[in-house]
Amino acid sequence: MAAIDEALLKLTEKALGELDQTDDEAGLENWRTEYLGRRGALTEHMRSVGQLSPEERPAAGQAANAAKARIESAFGERKTRIDELSLDRQLEAERIDVTLPARRLYAGGLHPVTQTLRRILEIFRDMGFQVAEGPEVELDKYNFEALNIPPEHPARDMFDTFYVNPPSVLLRTHTSPNQARIMERVPPPIRVVVPGRCYRYESQDASHEWMFHQVEGLAVDAGLTMADLKGVLVAFAQRMFWPEVQCRFRCDYFPFVEPGVDMSVQCPICRGKGCRVCKMSGWIEMLGAGMVHPRVLRNVGYDPDAVNGFAFGMGPERITMVKHAIDDIRLFYGNDLRFLAQFN
Ligand code: DAH
Repeated sequence: MAAIDEALLKLTEKALGELDQTDDEAGLENWRTEYLGRRGALTEHMRSVGQLSPEERPAAGQAANAAKARIESAFGERKTRIDELSLDRQLEAERIDVTLPARRLYAGGLHPVTQTLRRILEIFRDMGFQVAEGPEVELDKYNFEALNIPPEHPARDMFDTFYVNPPSVLLRTHTSPNQARIMERVPPPIRVVVPGRCYRYESQDASHEWMFHQVEGLAVDAGLTMADLKGVLVAFAQRMFWPEVQCRFRCDYFPFVEPGVDMSVQCPICRGKGCRVCKMSGWIEMLGAGMVHPRVLRNVGYDPDAVNGFAFGMGPERITMVKHAIDDIRLFYGNDLRFLAQFN
């Protein structure tokens, strides 16, 4: 065999042998450069055919072309194979284990005090009360004076006040200023409840927060009596707590009502038997109330000889605490999800 044919045979065998060993794109590209590139072994061989004598040239050229065709087709097959392999590898690497447990979705929930507020409003709406709201930044005029609490009145000690702009602008200490705001705006008859945040300049402890909620109630009409007040509040307690709950009214003092009372209900935890929550008394003080003071009616331009009213104010935090035997009001606004999530 001529030397050139022998060289071609060796070259072909070496090329095909090495091609079989390539197993990725980089290896294949190196192989291609080595044999088929501009300086590649096969290209060099083709060039050397050109150096042969004219007699030798045709046969050697044919052989070289045939070898080149064979090598190129082997390259094409190998490339297809390597593309398949790299796709397999990629699919394996990106494999998703569909049997893994799904990540849990957390749904939000209503704050326990929001839940209580909504329930309170729902019950009063059913009894024909409208719902209104008023400003948290309030005037002394509405928070105190309209409610029969003039400057220097000792009842101001009941309300430790945050002043925004002393002495006339403050954070409301209760929702009662809305009594005056509403009566000023609309003529009787009135039946309204007013929920909202209140603020007091107080040091915090298990039963005091500097921010809390109240729901104010007000009814004004000709001929309203204490019996109407009791009827509405007992009906409320029976739906808020349980149908046979007993209510107890005792005299209390608030400057804007006369007479003034507080209402206690049987303890929802022990139903009146006596427990830790009611401090063994069986009763829980739930709200303040009374017949609207004639001076308050007169302050808003109403005629106390033509109409009377009753009013009440309650704290949803306190109601929630009693219902769920929660012993620290600070839990409500401590943003601890372990506490809040229990009410979802
Ligand atoms: N505003 C009172 C307070 O914050 C609660 C209250 C008492 C409201 C008697 C009333 C009422 O409407 O008649 O302590």
